[in-house]
Amino acid sequence: MDSMEVNKAVAAVLVAGIAFFLTGTIGVNLVQEHVPVKTAIKIDVPKAAAPGGAPAEPELPPIANLLASANPTNGEADTKKLGCVACHTFTEGGKAGIGPNLYGVVGAPHGHMAGFGYSEALKSKKGPWTLAELNEWLYKPSAYAPGTRMSFAGIKDNKERADVIDYLRTLSHNPEPVPPPEPEKKQAAAATPAPAAGGAPAGEPSIDTLLASADPAAGEADTKKLGCTACHTFDKGGKAGLGPNLYGVVGAPHGHMEGFSYSTALKSKQGPWTFAELNEWLTKPAAYAPGTRMTFAGIKNPKERADVIAYLRTLSPNPEPLPGK
Ligand code: HEC
Ligand code: HEC
Repeated sequence: MDSMEVNKAVAAVLVAGIAFFLTGTIGVNLVQEHVPVKTAIKIDVPKAAAPGGAPAEPELPPIANLLASANPTNGEADTKKLGCVACHTFTEGGKAGIGPNLYGVVGAPHGHMAGFGYSEALKSKKGPWTLAELNEWLYKPSAYAPGTRMSFAGIKDNKERADVIDYLRTLSHNPEPVPPPEPEKKQAAAATPAPAAGGAPAGEPSIDTLLASADPAAGEADTKKLGCTACHTFDKGGKAGLGPNLYGVVGAPHGHMEGFSYSTALKSKQGPWTFAELNEWLTKPAAYAPGTRMTFAGIKNPKERADVIAYLRTLSPNPEPLPGK
């Protein structure tokens, strides 16, 4: 009898424990479901805000939009007002102070000055300083590179930060181009949840990740296999068929072929074709642009879709840089 009671008590505790555990697991799974959806849509998520990274910072406006109205002369004045000049020189060949010389830093590797004793925090950052990374860094250095030696709180004012970045950009024999602004796209993504949420299928890696291992040659073969070539030409100056010629479409405005009669559905889309948008479009054209004239179901296989997009990217004298490169 006693042992029955004990058994019951133990069973009750176990059941409660299992229920508690399962609820937690289910809860975690539900929450995690959303992570890929989010990253699949936002292409320029700052690295520091990646899942598991630094505490969430407010999302900064895209650097392209800030730079559209930036003024490098004001930026130069700001480097004096804000005290950058106390630690940095900006002239070509200028000496290091507390901080490194900053001539040519845009597009150069992190920790670009030979011989300067950078922190591990900064040296461990991969790849060149992009304009977007400088935007994050100068917003809050300690959040972008925790442990950095640059003891500077950051520039919170968007205009001021953009002016400074634009000034840094000019410190080169061959300044990096300013990326085209895309305000409409950003607002559309935020304001019209339906098409945005209907983008790349949930659980899929983001287009950035997919493109990293995509194969343009396989993509070209896919355009034949999938029947794109029945409606589209891909060579420079190629004629329209049922669909427009697709040379140079990546980075070009929606409805990019002169003289082709596009649907209002497609023409009404603002801004250039980004990789993320092409990914959405080719997943299911009718969902991305309801009313489109392109009668094509879509490419369900993410690898195939990325290969095709990688192929489209090559159709340019000057292909758009791959995300993160
Ligand atoms: C108190 C001194 C100090 C101030 C003020 C300061 N910096 Fe720095 N800066 C540093 C140091 C030190 C580093 C190297 C950081 C590291 O190694 O972690 C650095 C690194 C940098 C880098 C990266 C350079 C590279 O080669 O990768 C940039 C860009 C930069 N600073 C820009 C600025 C700008 C713009 C301002 C003003 C808004 C500013 N800094 C203010 C000390 C300073
Ligand atoms: C049945 C014909 C047809 C097929 C098959 C087809 N397309 Fe299209 N495509 C069109 C038409 C028509 C448009 C213009 C749509 C509109 O105006 O709404 C278009 C538009 C596009 C655009 C946008 C062009 C621009 O200038 O904005 C891209 C990119 C594209 N197609 C890629 C593809 C790819 C890649 C495939 C194969 C996976 C494919 N299409 C298959 C007919 C087709």
